[in-house]
Amino acid sequence: VSTQSPFCESLLLDPGYGRLKDHVIKSTGLAYYSNKDSDLAARIGRRLAKACLHDCNSYLDVLTSSETGEAELDELIAELTIGETYFFRYREQFQALQNTVLPDIIARNQSSRRLRIWSAGCATGAEAYSIAILLKNELSGYLAGWDLSIIGTDINRAFLSRAREGTFEEWAFRSTPNEVLGKCFRQTGKSWAIVPEYKECLAFQYHNLVKHPFPSLVHNLCSFDLILCRNVMIYFNRDIMSSLIEQFHECLVEGGWLLVGHAEPNVELFRSFQAVSVPGATLYQKSRGSAYPLGAPGVEEVPTSVRVEEILSNVNRAIFPRVNVPAKQAPRARANAAASAASELSDVRLLADQGQWEQAARCSRKLLETDAMNPKVHFYYSLVLEQMGLHAEAEQSLRRAVYLDRSFVLAHYYLALVLQKRGDHRGAARAFENVRTLARTMDAGEVLADADEMTAGDLMNLTETHLEVLQHS
Ligand SMILES: C[S@@+](CC[C@H](N)C(=O)[O-])C[C@H]1O[C@@H](n2cnc3c(N)ncnc32)[C@H](O)[C@@H]1O
Repeated sequence: VSTQSPFCESLLLDPGYGRLKDHVIKSTGLAYYSNKDSDLAARIGRRLAKACLHDCNSYLDVLTSSETGEAELDELIAELTIGETYFFRYREQFQALQNTVLPDIIARNQSSRRLRIWSAGCATGAEAYSIAILLKNELSGYLAGWDLSIIGTDINRAFLSRAREGTFEEWAFRSTPNEVLGKCFRQTGKSWAIVPEYKECLAFQYHNLVKHPFPSLVHNLCSFDLILCRNVMIYFNRDIMSSLIEQFHECLVEGGWLLVGHAEPNVELFRSFQAVSVPGATLYQKSRGSAYPLGAPGVEEVPTSVRVEEILSNVNRAIFPRVNVPAKQAPRARANAAASAASELSDVRLLADQGQWEQAARCSRKLLETDAMNPKVHFYYSLVLEQMGLHAEAEQSLRRAVYLDRSFVLAHYYLALVLQKRGDHRGAARAFENVRTLARTMDAGEVLADADEMTAGDLMNLTETHLEVLQHS
């Protein structure tokens, strides 16, 4: 980035620069730019030039306007974010995933047969696709019939649409073995497209780690077995990092794992996790607490170490050489207040955020016994049913929710998603049209009820993207 541009220098001298800088850092969380004024001013300067503006205050007006603010912030974020990523980035961590983390999760989830992974700050998706490749090529024998889900989120919409496309330039494969490249990608000209079967369990969605709350059942950002947030938190200040790490902790099931970039091992910030050291990498595990006590009714316990060994001994053609599995960590007792007799709707959300689906479903049914005409209860029940893989039942509950409240825009949206997933594309398109009609009557900046700070504008963007995909399917 040139620091010599006259425009950049004039921005630095502009009396409104300080206020603009504060606003930008606050709304994006990108504290990385706190002491990089020339770089920041040059990037902001490019947006000012595009908008034909000449001073910081006018640009701040655009950013804070309810009409233009959201769209402009997206464009600015695209200028500010650094999307450097590549497949199997930092080999030792992928070795650890293959040899320690994934076998451990597979062993523990034998009864639920579910595996949920979040790539937070996924950029153009290489990290999420690397995991999909690892699962499919190395562990598929253990995952037949499982409900697999890898969610990639990012703040940069342009990166997300490239991630959905799944096409990469050669440079993205600098750490990828040739045999993996040949098997999982098809070359067209200078780029490589991922083979569709590796896309099956992936979804990419917009999410600002600093602004949008999580865990969030509504945004499907909860109850993960593994979260990767690598080379993202380095752009944030210590306070933001610390609160993100706590939020990741809440988003994980007991025994779930967090993986951060190899250059960010500030152990002090991860004190709520157990640090597990393997060759070349430190992993963080949320210790198993009292939520799933041994021998609890309905929870089938398996002798984990035996299963892990069994899985490892059957991984024949490992992408990376095997390393020893560390001894199992001793479980630390943890009180689980939320699991107590829950009777409010907020408890359903809390239980769901912790992945306690059976209890959340039971709690919803109990609420419906006394409040059967409440569309919100049907709505939350449907989200829980969906997470349990009960798609037909989820659809039914959503239909009840929209029947009881025709203007319940979020219920229409989730009905569309469920119908899309169930292959009813015409029904899905109709439901998305309903969302569009309802969202048009709202202000773009209006925060939707029960949507964890999602605005009508966000919902409109998502809906347009889905309708576009449906038109081409
Ligand atoms: C350097 S890339 C890391 C990509 C990938 N995790 C990896 O390690 O290869 C950092 C990513 O974080 C994203 N990012 C930055 N701030 C974010 C925020 N507040 N919320 C979500 N993503 C963010 C950027 O858009 C960028 O795609």
